[in-house]
Amino acid sequence: MAASPVKKIAILPGDGVGKEVVSEGRKLLEIYRDRGGLPLEFWDLDLGADRYLADGTTMPADVLHEIKRGCAAVLLGALGDPRVPGHEHARDILFGIRFGCDLYANVRPVRALSDALVPLKGKRAAQVDFVVYRENTEGSYANIGGQLRRGTADEIAINEDINTRKGVERIIVAAFEHARRTGKTRLHMADKSNAMRYAHDLWQRVFAEVRDGYRDIESEHLFIDTLCLKLVESPESFQVIVTNNLFGDIVTDLAAALQGGLGMAASANINAKDANAVAMFEPVHGSAPLLAGKDVANPFATFLTIALMLEHLGWPAEARRIEQAVAHAIAQGRSTPDVGGTLGTRAAAAWVRGEIERSLDVFRSMLNS
Ligand code: IPM
Ligand code: MN
Repeated sequence: MAASPVKKIAILPGDGVGKEVVSEGRKLLEIYRDRGGLPLEFWDLDLGADRYLADGTTMPADVLHEIKRGCAAVLLGALGDPRVPGHEHARDILFGIRFGCDLYANVRPVRALSDALVPLKGKRAAQVDFVVYRENTEGSYANIGGQLRRGTADEIAINEDINTRKGVERIIVAAFEHARRTGKTRLHMADKSNAMRYAHDLWQRVFAEVRDGYRDIESEHLFIDTLCLKLVESPESFQVIVTNNLFGDIVTDLAAALQGGLGMAASANINAKDANAVAMFEPVHGSAPLLAGKDVANPFATFLTIALMLEHLGWPAEARRIEQAVAHAIAQGRSTPDVGGTLGTRAAAAWVRGEIERSLDVFRSMLNS
């Protein structure tokens, strides 16, 4: 059998707590590289606010090229620093990768790992289990707009909402394909076509066309405001949600609250049409400057994000192993206080890595016996 080709992972801790959680996540990946037999190679990149403030670098073109051509995945921590109030480095790096690598599907699974993490009265973990497909390359994030007479009483500020037929179609198709592949029976598309009559009328028409090809999946449209209401009232009604870039951003913070907060929310940025294209993985949370350097940030969003990465790279059993170890940590209170435990970032991460190492060892000794 040919040896599996080495998968190169670009690691960008970024800013704030991103550095702490990615350093813990890197150690988890090291276990897989050194003891779990996964052919991984790491490429550490010091891009972020410190580098930008030091020499003006945000996302060099040759780095982006190597990410696109030479890497299997990117692990990104978080970007954002109060010393860069315009967020220009964050946009260059994050959108540089999302747009530059055409990672048009931002896939955000929402699953509560314990009843105690669900903040809704009378709801259990089993009732919070869905995935959001967020369009990731256009909409209000397309960076088209401008300002006129800035700073005067007559100022005009414009951000265009860009919706292309191809862009809308491919994200809706990706969501339906996900549903079919994972045996889900229901899909919701959310827009605001009652108010945004031109752009979101396009979503309506494309949805009507695409759903015709997926009669096996029950599909329904909801206005985004109604979706927010129903997510809180009855999260169990949802399996797959597809929506635009901005709405997807907002609704996944709300959804994160249903699964225990931003410390538990993972995401994958993928090109759903090309399984060999590079993909980027990042926890949904931000850089949380006020928490940085205090060993309090929850590392589990990053661990669950690494689970998504390993699944994407073809190791679904390892994804399940990580999810189980994190769920076990939550159940045992071996977590940071935001999810009910008493540990710091490093200790919580080390506990979960210990669980994973033990289960890898058991697996290996079974192979050898
Ligand atoms: C996210 C973040 C980003 C976004 C910010 C940092 C620009 O909130 O990934 O959800 O809006 O996409
Ligand atoms: Mn967000």
